[in-house]
Amino acid sequence: MSPLTHRLAQPEDLDALRAVMGRAIAQLQHGFLTPAQVAASHQVMGLDTQLIADQTYFLVEDATGTIAGCGGWSFRATLYGGDASIVAREPQRLDPARDAAKIRAMYTDPAFIRRGIGRRVLGLCEEAARDAGFARAEMMATMAGVPLYEACGYRQIEPVLSAPIAGVRVPLVRMEKLLRSA
Ligand SMILES: CC(C)(COP(=O)(O)OP(=O)(O)OC[C@H]1O[C@@H](n2cnc3c(N)ncnc32)[C@H](O)[C@@H]1OP(=O)(O)O)[C@@H](O)C(=O)NCCC(=O)NCCS
Repeated sequence: MSPLTHRLAQPEDLDALRAVMGRAIAQLQHGFLTPAQVAASHQVMGLDTQLIADQTYFLVEDATGTIAGCGGWSFRATLYGGDASIVAREPQRLDPARDAAKIRAMYTDPAFIRRGIGRRVLGLCEEAARDAGFARAEMMATMAGVPLYEACGYRQIEPVLSAPIAGVRVPLVRMEKLLRSA
């Protein structure tokens, strides 16, 4: 296995990123969701390209340039969702002194799971958010994401159901973590 490196994602990475996300959504949520909820997830999840424009979206790749995983953070208020699925886009900038940075769109390619890629990307996001002055991070987690986030120190705040997609609601949970002590 070649060494894995990370960098900020660029617009030309979009097709490959979307392919990774599609595989992760389809293959890594069984056991956490029903098949109908997995199918509906494709409409709930995905990439908000604002993160690439803001240069707050990371990817991890191998020596051949194959993307192993990705994820980002945001200094904007939108909490979750992809370009096509954001219910409430809130582009306004957050106040680091008061608000929590948002952790967004964390995906590992099924061929690379349980090798610490999710943990690595999350750490990069937290470091960047901390550098930008944020003291807290939060996200809307999928059920498949909860074990990673709990392993990385996040706590569950409230369960949430997505808007119905063809009659199916996807369970989500809002989670948060302190990035620095008060
Ligand atoms: C969630 C996801 C990004 C995790 O990626 P990953 O690169 O496999 O995670 P890591 O290898 O960094 O895992 C770190 C730790 O998190 C926990 N963890 C991660 N995935 C887990 C799973 N499926 N079951 C139980 N614990 C898990 C473990 O404690 C793990 O440490 P260990 O492997 O030493 O036991 C990946 O499963 C995924 O893409 N899921 C589908 C998309 C999704 O739901 N994303 C979250 C959006 S909010």
